[in-house]
Amino acid sequence: MRKKIAAGNWKMNNNRDEAIALVEGLLQVAIPDNTEVILGVPYLYLHELQGMVSDSQIQLAAQNCHQEKSGAYTGEISASMLKSIGIETVILGHSERREYFDETDELLSRKLRAALDEGLKVIFCCGEPLSVREAGEHVAYVKKQLTEGLFQISEEDLGSVVIAYEPVWAIGTGVTASKEQVQEMHHEIRKMIADNYQPSVADKTHILYGGSVKPANAAELFAQPDVDGGLVGGASLKASDFGAIIQA
Ligand code: 13P
Repeated sequence: MRKKIAAGNWKMNNNRDEAIALVEGLLQVAIPDNTEVILGVPYLYLHELQGMVSDSQIQLAAQNCHQEKSGAYTGEISASMLKSIGIETVILGHSERREYFDETDELLSRKLRAALDEGLKVIFCCGEPLSVREAGEHVAYVKKQLTEGLFQISEEDLGSVVIAYEPVWAIGTGVTASKEQVQEMHHEIRKMIADNYQPSVADKTHILYGGSVKPANAAELFAQPDVDGGLVGGASLKASDFGAIIQA
């Protein structure tokens, strides 16, 4: 039985005081037993917030990491640095990283390797832009992203990966994919895992949906048979909204 995961992605939001206040608010939320809560926060706050959540059910994630362990890469953060401050999870392959920072499937496969080599868990994002959805090629597009970025890892390593399906046209737009569209893609992704590994691996893998998840639609989306929770942007910035999504 897969547990539910409510993951927030703060992106480049919240100054330090706001970050602390938000975590204080979330520490008041009653988290259901079968639910894991992960907050993807800016690097800058990871260490301090880690101290706040260490005795709670809330875990933190970084939103990115570099593909090398160390070296002359000014401004970058490695998986090994994250590990050294007790961070256990990193989000990789978000569409904003792919689009604005030119992260290719090939680069993401190297970042993924670096993260897994440090023993980090990875939330690996995929999802098609609007033009691809309109052309009806969304399944093939996501299949290519996962084949080139993810499926080269071993079955054992895949156990440390959560897949997040985030259609680009639903991110930050207020347009949520319908429950049928989400279930269709999650089912297809599970079939891709079964084809590349084994049905039992596909059964165990968590697949999250992201794209305008809100308190009003979370329960319906999370109730789909192949949806194991959400990766939430805007609605993770308010404790009351994200609290409602955690409890959805
Ligand atoms: P929104 O929830 O703001 O649409 O963002 C989704 C997302 O990109 C999470 O990673």
